[in-house]
Amino acid sequence: MSQDFSQRIAAYQERVDARLDAALPPPAVAPQRLHDAMRYAVFNGGKRVRPLLVYATGECLGVAPDLLDGPAVAIELIHAFSLVHDDLPAMDDDDLRRGQPTVHIQYDEATAILAADALQPLAFAVLTGIDQASADARAALVRLIAGACGSVGMTGGQSIDLAAEGKTLSAAELEHMYSLKTGALIHAAIVSACLLREGLDRAQAAALDDFGKDIGVAFQIQDDILDIEGETHVIGKPSGSDARLAKATYPALFGIDASRKRCEELLQSAIANLGIFGETAAPLVWLARYIVERGK
Ligand code: IPE
Ligand code: IPE
Ligand code: MG
Ligand code: MG
Ligand code: MG
Repeated sequence: MSQDFSQRIAAYQERVDARLDAALPPPAVAPQRLHDAMRYAVFNGGKRVRPLLVYATGECLGVAPDLLDGPAVAIELIHAFSLVHDDLPAMDDDDLRRGQPTVHIQYDEATAILAADALQPLAFAVLTGIDQASADARAALVRLIAGACGSVGMTGGQSIDLAAEGKTLSAAELEHMYSLKTGALIHAAIVSACLLREGLDRAQAAALDDFGKDIGVAFQIQDDILDIEGETHVIGKPSGSDARLAKATYPALFGIDASRKRCEELLQSAIANLGIFGETAAPLVWLARYIVERGK
C-alpha cells in the first residue's frame, strides 16, 4: 500500500461501477423504461464517496476488496434511490442532479418514484448474495443497512429535514438531523467493512464507529456550504436550492464561518479517532479531508 489513496480512487470507482452495472437489470429487459430510469439514476457521474469509504475502511482493516463489493454496491444503490426521491417536487423540487436533468424531469414523476422504489430492494438482494461472506455476516449487513436507510436512519432524517423548513433548530437538533439524513449511510459504509473483518478488536471498531459519525455530519455541513458558495455548473445541482426552500441548514442558522469551523472540528475529531491504526488509516484520512475540503 505504498501508493497514495488518491491514485487508487479511479480504479475503485471503475470497480464499483462495473459491479453496479452487473447488479442492475439490463436495459433491454422489460419493463424497459423503469430499468432505463434506474440506470440513469445510478450512472450519471456520482463521486461514489460511500463505496470509496467501504474500500478505504477495508484497506485499513485488511479486508479483501472482493468481500467489500457487496456493501459498496448496496449502499450506492440506496444513496441513488435517496437522491431520486430527494429531488421530487414533493421534496426538494430540484431539476438538476450531477449536471443532468433529475430523474422525474428526464422521465416523469411516477417513473422516478418507481425507479427509486426498485433500487432499494435491489440493494438488499445484493447483500444477501455475497457468496464469500458467511450467512451471519450477510444477515448483519442487511440489518446494518436496513437500519441506516429506514425511519431511524436516512428516511427519518429526510422527514425531519422537510418538517424543519422555515424553522429554527438548535445546533444539536440540526446535527441530529444531519446524522440521520446523511450520516447514517456514510457511517454504515464504514461499519459494513468492520462487519466483514473477523475478530475485529473492540477499540478499533469503536474508533471507526466514531470516525463514521463525525465525517457523516461534516459531509452534510460541507454540502450546505456548497449549496451557497458552489456554482451550479461545478456542483451539478442548482446552487441556492436550500435558501429557496428556507431549509434549516448550518450555514443558514449559524453562518458560513461557524459552519466552516464546525466542519474543521469534526474533521480533526474524525482523524484523531484513527490514531490507533497508524499508517494503514491513510486512505480514510485522505477521504475525510476530501469530504470537508471538496469544492474549495
Ligand atoms: C449528495 O451526496 C446528497 C447528500 C447526502 C448531501 P453526494 O455529494 O455524495 O452526491 P453524489 O453521489 O456525488 O452525486
Ligand atoms: C439530502 O440532503 C440528503 C439525502 C438523504 C438525499 P440535500 O437535500 O442537501 O442533498 P442535495 O444537496 O439535494 O444533494
Ligand atoms: Mg433534501
Ligand atoms: Mg436536495
Ligand atoms: Mg444539499
